[in-house]
Amino acid sequence: MTTKIANTVGALMSALTTPAGQADPYPRYRELRELGPAAHTPDGTLVVSGYRLAATLARDHRLLKRPEHGLAAAGFADWREHPGLRLMFTSMLVRNPPDHTRLRRLVSGAFTARRVAGLRRAIARTVDRLLGELAGPDPVDFVDAFAFPLPVTVIGELLGVPDTDRLRFQPLVRDWAGVLDRLDGPGVARADDAATEISEYLRDLAARRRREPRDDLLSALVVPAADGAFLDDDELITMAALLFAAGFETTTGLLANGLAALLEHPDQAALLRENPELAGTATEELLRYDSPVQLLTSRTAPEELHSGGLTLPAGQRVVLLLGAANRDPEVFAEPDVLRLDREGEPPLSFGGGVHYCLGAPLARLEAQLAFPALLRAFPALTQAGPAVARKGLALHGLTALPVTTGPRSR
Ligand code: HEM
Repeated sequence: MTTKIANTVGALMSALTTPAGQADPYPRYRELRELGPAAHTPDGTLVVSGYRLAATLARDHRLLKRPEHGLAAAGFADWREHPGLRLMFTSMLVRNPPDHTRLRRLVSGAFTARRVAGLRRAIARTVDRLLGELAGPDPVDFVDAFAFPLPVTVIGELLGVPDTDRLRFQPLVRDWAGVLDRLDGPGVARADDAATEISEYLRDLAARRRREPRDDLLSALVVPAADGAFLDDDELITMAALLFAAGFETTTGLLANGLAALLEHPDQAALLRENPELAGTATEELLRYDSPVQLLTSRTAPEELHSGGLTLPAGQRVVLLLGAANRDPEVFAEPDVLRLDREGEPPLSFGGGVHYCLGAPLARLEAQLAFPALLRAFPALTQAGPAVARKGLALHGLTALPVTTGPRSR
């Protein structure tokens, strides 16, 4: 019986690696949840699809990131020799306390709520400019014209990456972040090239900011904190790369997935158009309905642990399926229905615990400003062709979403 369930889980997880499974993972998630809030794959990994269990395990600081096991199993025991793997798997995202605590404290001191709140007007101005460029009678790709340029402009301004340099990062970050989904020779080779270019660029920019500081995050990160703590050179580059990549790749996904959902649900689009004060709950619902991050980098129990009513043996690897948890009917009534005024538990799209997304307030602010403005500007907005799903599941988004805006209303 247990083997039969494990085989079913294994087959469902394999289906989630296919293009169709990645484009619409929800039917497979439903089947997984029907097996219970968690189930083992044939290789012993515990796959969690229930909301409450996923929330508990995400917050359990005793579970650790141990990427070296998965890397070795995929044939990359020498992962530190690969620039793409080194840049990703030495970053704060995959570190454990106390290293993680030190890194997170240093960046949090520079990435403050005040700095994010201070961006509101600049974000609104960028939204307005991009809407102006989007307007017209011909079909336009929403990803190229809005979902990518908005977050890359915002994180670029915040970090201090000059605007003329930002565009080249989209393909580079996509190649680099591919290692969160697939670990194979060609993918890692692409990630290595991309990470080398990203690191060289950021190393040069950091040197310039050290010589001539400006009012940006990179300048704030190159100087020691008040207590004398500081990031060494490699840590600085790794942090800047993580912030820059995480700052736009995921938010591009939120804007693209969110608009695709609104176009499929004109009644909900009309609700938000007429009630822009729903921007807060609407953003949470769009994050829940089709999360830009579908699963968390795996956690491992370093010793036997009891958590969420489970006994996790030493070495147990745990994968949390956020996208499945976000559609758990025990927590969200009619989870497959998009309801922009939904209240209740937050989606798990920003993770939880010590690794809870550092950029959540920024991503929320961008979406809360963008969606109502977009719908108000273009009452006749329609889809003009099929959306193209981004490869991969960890990061889940679109690479194209053709739309026709119609005339802009003022
Ligand atoms: C809708 C947009 C976003 C989503 C869905 C998202 C999601 C997530 C999730 C799920 C994690 C936790 C990963 C884990 O525990 O394994 C995370 C971590 C992180 N996110 Fe975001 N993110 C978004 C936007 C941003 C932005 C705009 C930034 C900007 C700077 C950012 C920076 C980070 C960083 C630095 C971490 C690592 C935190 C740590 O390990 O302590 N994210 N994000």
